[in-house]
Amino acid sequence: MLFSPYTIRDVTFKNRIVMSPMCMYACDGEDGTVHNWHLVHYATRAVGQVGLIIVEATAVTPQGRISVRDLGIWDDNHIDGLRTLTTLVHEQGAKIGIQLAHAGRKATVSGEIIAPSPIPFDETMRTPKEMTKEDIEETIHAFQQGARRAKEAGFDVIEIHAAHGYLINEFLSPLTNKRTDEYGGENRYRFLSEIIEAVKEVWNGPLFVRISAHDYHPDGLTVKDYVEYAKQMKAQGVDLIDVSSGAVVPAKIDAYPGYQVPFAETIRREANVPTGAVGLITSGLQAEEILRNGRADLIFIGRELLRNPYWPKTASSELGISLEAPKPYVRGW
Ligand code: FNR
Repeated sequence: MLFSPYTIRDVTFKNRIVMSPMCMYACDGEDGTVHNWHLVHYATRAVGQVGLIIVEATAVTPQGRISVRDLGIWDDNHIDGLRTLTTLVHEQGAKIGIQLAHAGRKATVSGEIIAPSPIPFDETMRTPKEMTKEDIEETIHAFQQGARRAKEAGFDVIEIHAAHGYLINEFLSPLTNKRTDEYGGENRYRFLSEIIEAVKEVWNGPLFVRISAHDYHPDGLTVKDYVEYAKQMKAQGVDLIDVSSGAVVPAKIDAYPGYQVPFAETIRREANVPTGAVGLITSGLQAEEILRNGRADLIFIGRELLRNPYWPKTASSELGISLEAPKPYVRGW
């Protein structure tokens, strides 16, 4: 199944292998524009026969950057570089998505940082400003403008980053959202809900949301809560939930091969929505097991694709499948 195509809306990925979004902190200056590094890095994985490449967390506002070297999509000036990137990746036969992100209280840029509640991540980080209604509206609008620019730049997929303790995740979790207005308490999902709605006004292609399905804290969220959130996302037209975990609050995570796969499986089964599995998936057999046992629909590969851009080739050999070579490589594939 790993090498079978998968279609969402009118976009077909040639296989189930997805390059997981990974920040490169490789912008040349501080303006968030695409650099040669990004072109080489992503196009190489397209040559390596990845079906879908998801470009790293890309900031919808300058204030929402994890670092000043993050990619940005907060200005129309970003579109040209991103279009060069999508063109290059398309030429090599892969589809390309982009992860729209806001770092919230985990932003390390200078100036004010914002979050649902004024609680710092840990003692090394700054205390964020509690967002006003206006801040919330502006941020939702920034996600919408990011989606509009992603469309203009030629992306096939948009992934909303609602995981890893960044802004949207901070709204979802009771550990970080202490608001008493209509964005807190029972309504912690509202912020994400309004972002999805705003994005869908300008985007009708495949829409993914990445979540942290477990807070690893006694008072935090677990996969049970995310099954309910996933049902709402599905009802709003989200096509796939990319299931990661943690990083909302400092916590020790016992990471072992496939440790997040049970979350993807539970959400897929109980919310009846397609999922992506991610986290210490490193072999073709492991990926095939996940797909065949109906635990996820797509396999996201992170670090293994940093180590080996031709991982799909390695996985195909392991599964005894002959993978067609990129033409210039036919003599040595
Ligand atoms: C990441 N990860 C990550 N996740 C995300 O949603 N957006 C991002 O921009 C990043 N950035 C990032 C950078 C680097 C260098 C690493 C190693 C990781 C997490 C990544 O997508 C993936 O979920 C994890 O790495 C787990 O998968 P692997 O690496 O075990 O396959």
